[in-house]
Amino acid sequence: MKKAEAHIAKYPKGKQASAVMPLLDLAQTQHDGWIPEAAMEEIGRILDMPRIKVFEVATFYTMYNLQPKGEHHLQLCTTTPCWLSGSAEVVKACEKHLGIKMGETTADGLFSMSDVECLGACVNAPVIQHNGDDLYEDLTPKNVIEVLDGLKSGKKPKHGSQTGRTTSMGVKGATCLHELAEKAGVKKC
Ligand code: FES
Repeated sequence: MKKAEAHIAKYPKGKQASAVMPLLDLAQTQHDGWIPEAAMEEIGRILDMPRIKVFEVATFYTMYNLQPKGEHHLQLCTTTPCWLSGSAEVVKACEKHLGIKMGETTADGLFSMSDVECLGACVNAPVIQHNGDDLYEDLTPKNVIEVLDGLKSGKKPKHGSQTGRTTSMGVKGATCLHELAEKAGVKKC
């Protein structure tokens, strides 16, 4: 409740409903990664807003889970840049390897797959977010299996590019800016 009050205090008096998103996030964090209906009702009561408005926000954003998820929640981006870079094959590889379809959880409760919109890392597409946190990037049907097996074994694979790219460096290496700098007479750093 103290954390909720700290979020509410960030907004002007009478505008406490603006805290609905951080409160949903707080509820999710405190409730094993998902938000039950009772929590949404309580948030409506705390913020003095109709519960349908809380439901509207919670159902709009894919970052809010309204059902329990597996220990490893894979949020697979299938928006255009990821799709153009092969996300459909990555999805198929995950479904085949895990024996589930998008939107399902494995029988052992270890993995869940969710379809999400752009994760803001299109330059390293295709991308999967793990448990709402780390991004696995530059995925292929082959390297995504290594990521899944790594997660299953309990050794968390290194997140970021799975092809060894440094952050979002061009696939041919960091040449462009050096060349431009040289042309402009700037010494190499
Ligand atoms: S489209 Fe997949 S990260 Fe942007």
